[in-house]
Amino acid sequence: GAPVEVDISALKAGEKMTVEWRGKPVWVVRRTPEQLASLKSLDGQLADPQSERTAYPIPEYAKNEYRSIKPEVLVVVGVCTHLGCSPSDKFAAGPQPSLPDDWKGGFLCPCHGSTFDMSARVFKNKPAPDNLEVPPHMYLSDAKLLIG
Ligand code: FES
Repeated sequence: GAPVEVDISALKAGEKMTVEWRGKPVWVVRRTPEQLASLKSLDGQLADPQSERTAYPIPEYAKNEYRSIKPEVLVVVGVCTHLGCSPSDKFAAGPQPSLPDDWKGGFLCPCHGSTFDMSARVFKNKPAPDNLEVPPHMYLSDAKLLIG
């Protein structure tokens, strides 16, 4: 499939946009400072905090807590690594139905309950075997992202 160019200039902090790449939804999320601050404290609760597993190729820039080129901009394939459902956004902090009381925000797969943090890293003991995939991407300018 051809690379997809995305204008992210209108994307505000705390917002997510979805674009299609190779027939899959790709999410672009501009994370808030609070969301970024929560990431390091979660490592112990995650299955693969540094994205070292190799079920799919992981770009070098995704092998850290942020899983991104620019810390604030997360780019991931919005398809659950378990059986391919589409996880929902659960960005608000604080108690939410079916989430732990100390939830810091992230994504929840409605099919079998896998939870992911704001870097789309999967929590331990969930059916999803891997973090969500980070597609290869680069910046053409501050406003323009090229996915693929
Ligand atoms: Fe997401 Fe099963 S498809 S948890």
